[in-house]
Amino acid sequence: MGRGEEVTPGVAAAARRPMPLDADGGESAIRVAHVAKTFGAAPGVRALEAVDFAVPRGQFVSILGPSGCGKSTLLRIIAGLMRPDPGGEVQVQGHRQTGVSDDIGVVFQTHNMLPWETVEANIRLAAEVRNLPAADIDARVEALLGVLKLEKFRRNYPHELSGGMRQRAALGQILVLRPQILLLDEPFGALDALTRDQLNVELLRLWQEVRKTVVLITHSIPEAIFLSDRVLVMSERPGRVIDDIRIDLPRPRDPRSTKERVEFGHYVVRLGQLMGVE
Ligand SMILES: Nc1ncnc2c1ncn2[C@@H]1O[C@H](COP(=O)(O)OP(=O)(O)O)[C@@H](O)[C@H]1O
Ligand SMILES: [Mg+2]
Repeated sequence: MGRGEEVTPGVAAAARRPMPLDADGGESAIRVAHVAKTFGAAPGVRALEAVDFAVPRGQFVSILGPSGCGKSTLLRIIAGLMRPDPGGEVQVQGHRQTGVSDDIGVVFQTHNMLPWETVEANIRLAAEVRNLPAADIDARVEALLGVLKLEKFRRNYPHELSGGMRQRAALGQILVLRPQILLLDEPFGALDALTRDQLNVELLRLWQEVRKTVVLITHSIPEAIFLSDRVLVMSERPGRVIDDIRIDLPRPRDPRSTKERVEFGHYVVRLGQLMGVE
């Protein structure tokens, strides 16, 4: 039999059906099944409705959606910081999500640094709290300060840094635990456009080195396209996934040549239509 004929029966059909929760033997980093969330007493605020998707290990996925559609709620549920309504479930690395774990690192829009500690001390903190061996922490922190271009600022305090540097340090605070999955909730949303573009390039470089699974929440269409393997688009509240678009742009990507490609423009138009910005 020729190579082209080695097709596993039923695979194509299975791909069209929603997967049962235990179907892929833990191949996915994240699986979200029938996740809904209502806040408050009945009828309450319906934030999310029937969200289903899976993220393969190592994939960079962005979630794009209008403000208030439930993106942060979804991220908190994936992180184990919040429970979905009964009937919904999240699996992380093949296990049912029951609470926060060091497998997942979360970075929010506003940083979490202790103002009275230096950049270096802030990055060390999570590892020290977990009593990792000092030599191990030293090695991790040295590597991170280099990757995040913060070596010269290691002894500075958070208020002495620019917004971009603070968000890089915030990333360091999470990466020091070497989580398998990174959840980023509009981490660059409060920064100016130029700083944001620079951080996007650095985030991509970092991801290309470590290949963690990344879920990035953003409301920037170009940011989502530039960074991602795949973009999930959410509806207005109650948030549902209304489209799942594979971004077929070659890697490694650099901002100029990637954004100049015809396909990039096509993705911008298509996502703009889905988001209702014509
Ligand atoms: N803890 C909460 N209690 C009550 N309502 C909430 C809570 N968190 C979010 N909401 C509501 O749920 C909806 C979705 O919020 P959120 O997930 O923050 O949206 P997004 O991140 O997409 O802007 C909003 O209407 C918001 O007001
Ligand atoms: Mg949000």
